[in-house]
Amino acid sequence: HSSHDQVSLNAYEWLTKFYHHVLEHTKEGQEAKKYLIDRGVNEETIKKFQLGYAPSNSDLTIDFLHKKSFDSDELVESGLLGATDKQKPYDRFRGRVLFPIRNHLGKTVGFGGRAIHEGNEPKYLNSTDSRLFQKSKLLFNFDLARSEMKKVNQAVLFEGYMDVITADQHGILNGVASLGTSLTEHQAALIKRYVEEVVVSYDGDQAGIEAAIKAADLFHKVGLDVRVATIPENLDPDSYIQKYGGDRFKQEIINQSATYVSFYMQVLKRSYNLSVEAELMNYINAVIEKIATLDRAVDRDHYANELATNYQLSVDTIREEIQTLRQKMT
Ligand code: GTP
Ligand code: MN
Ligand code: MN
Ligand code: MN
Ligand code: MN
Repeated sequence: HSSHDQVSLNAYEWLTKFYHHVLEHTKEGQEAKKYLIDRGVNEETIKKFQLGYAPSNSDLTIDFLHKKSFDSDELVESGLLGATDKQKPYDRFRGRVLFPIRNHLGKTVGFGGRAIHEGNEPKYLNSTDSRLFQKSKLLFNFDLARSEMKKVNQAVLFEGYMDVITADQHGILNGVASLGTSLTEHQAALIKRYVEEVVVSYDGDQAGIEAAIKAADLFHKVGLDVRVATIPENLDPDSYIQKYGGDRFKQEIINQSATYVSFYMQVLKRSYNLSVEAELMNYINAVIEKIATLDRAVDRDHYANELATNYQLSVDTIREEIQTLRQKMT
């Protein structure tokens, strides 16, 4: 087992260098480099994240690996290279800009690859899962973000690699992202080991909001203080920061992010017609159910008061209701 893992780790290390070199120093890499520069990614960031480009001719990658004495069959087996039955191996990432995905020790264990031409599907391609590369357990940029997370006692969860990278370039160093899949409890628990608070900062579209609800629930479940940011104008964090800068992102998006319950209140509102008495009552009950799941009595009290004020209700009645629900929960 471990000797195969070691071979894979070595291969990934060489591949990271190779792809980065292709991006930085070859003719074919120029278009990819321009793609990144046009998106506002600077030289320093390209270097820091070892961004790369996989040549469109697979043979260049395969030849490079052969020169480094790697055996293609073994690389196919471990998922580094693609191969259709009986055919020669190929580079699954050919023609893509590459984001090396590192484990907690900073070693590359996989790649995310973005197509640089519109209409090349899928837009993003990730390495297939293997023993070293488990999408449900890794977080993009976790190795670098960890110390900052600890320092500021807060993590920011983004949707995409580009969000993390652009945020980093603009001084937001505590950002991580899942690997194109939904956040898992394992990942939430990992973050919990370093911080007390997490800000979910997903895209402002419907898919982003729905994914944010799920992520927020998971973080809440593992005991983190959760906030959820809202990005305006259908932007995502990457495009927001490119447009308005990192300081404004911190001030207007991170610092103004809604608390877990406030976010729920906003989201739930959209499913009820609050001008209808019965629906209003259902809405209020749904909010009370959320409040009842909060661990701290001060937080429950705070939202009970807010709800009472907003809808001219008796705070005592709300408190009683919360108590009843909590007794049922245990
Ligand atoms: P850009 O278009 O490059 O700005 O990427 P984005 O991060 O804004 O993309 P999007 O919001 O659409 O997706 C967020 C994340 O989901 C990406 O970083 C990927 O990890 C993943 N993702 C997006 N599209 C695909 C896809 O077609 N296939 C897979 N497997 N993952 C995807
Ligand atoms: Mn170089
Ligand atoms: Mn999205
Ligand atoms: Mn996005
Ligand atoms: Mn984007």
